[in-house]
Amino acid sequence: RLKKSLGGKKILVTAGPTQEPIDPVRYITNHSSGKMGYAIARAARDRGAEVTLVSGVTNLKKPIGVKVVDIVTTEDMYAEVFNYFDEADIIIKAAAVADYKPKDVAENKIKKSDSNFSIELSRNPDILLELGKVKGDKILIGFAAETNDLLKNAKIKINKKNLDFIVANNISEKGAGFKGDTNIISIIDSLGSIKKYDKMKKEEIAEIILDKVYDLIKLKE
Ligand code: PMT
Repeated sequence: RLKKSLGGKKILVTAGPTQEPIDPVRYITNHSSGKMGYAIARAARDRGAEVTLVSGVTNLKKPIGVKVVDIVTTEDMYAEVFNYFDEADIIIKAAAVADYKPKDVAENKIKKSDSNFSIELSRNPDILLELGKVKGDKILIGFAAETNDLLKNAKIKINKKNLDFIVANNISEKGAGFKGDTNIISIIDSLGSIKKYDKMKKEEIAEIILDKVYDLIKLKE
């Protein structure tokens, strides 16, 4: 099958987790391996797109022919995404971003004591929400990792964040979401139409997403 070309298009992809430091040795993060976002970056490169991959800390090999921008925290990701936003035609946000960070980062390692200990968290920016406000005629695609009310929550995110479509994965299903080589997704578009796909390799899911991006570009032309 001939793949739908994305030659001449600039795509910005985010992947992996963000890490929020507590002190010099500890941090808050999530289970994202980066596999989903890296698969999208490689597939977009293979279709001729110019790809920038803003990546959290992962163990994955940097894809050849992709500009990889490494970040650690959500604030870093926010800054780099907005660095590359202007030139991008398409933005795909597969990263799992920490919504909260420790309000204060301890300068020295926190010592244990016999009492309980709590960390006050403050809100991180919602990168996708901010992108949605300035999106213009760019194509903006989000992911939604949910454990319950998947479709309802995904629909809310599309509207609130001004997305062209959202890729929802129910991370409580076996073979879906974080870490593994497969995912189970539903794609919900801005008109509210929903398509659920069977369990597939993340590479195959990347192709489905990029086919849909291609169709959207053709519609807008
Ligand atoms: O990396 P893998 O191990 O392959 O796993 C893939 C994945 C499960 C991480 C991926 O498929 C996925 O679902 N990514 C989005 C995870 C997530 O953070 O979902 P969310 O529902 O919390 O966020 C919704 C969207 O807003 C996402 O596109 C996210 O990038 C974005 N967001 C969220 C919070 C925030 N502060 N800023 C954001 O931009």
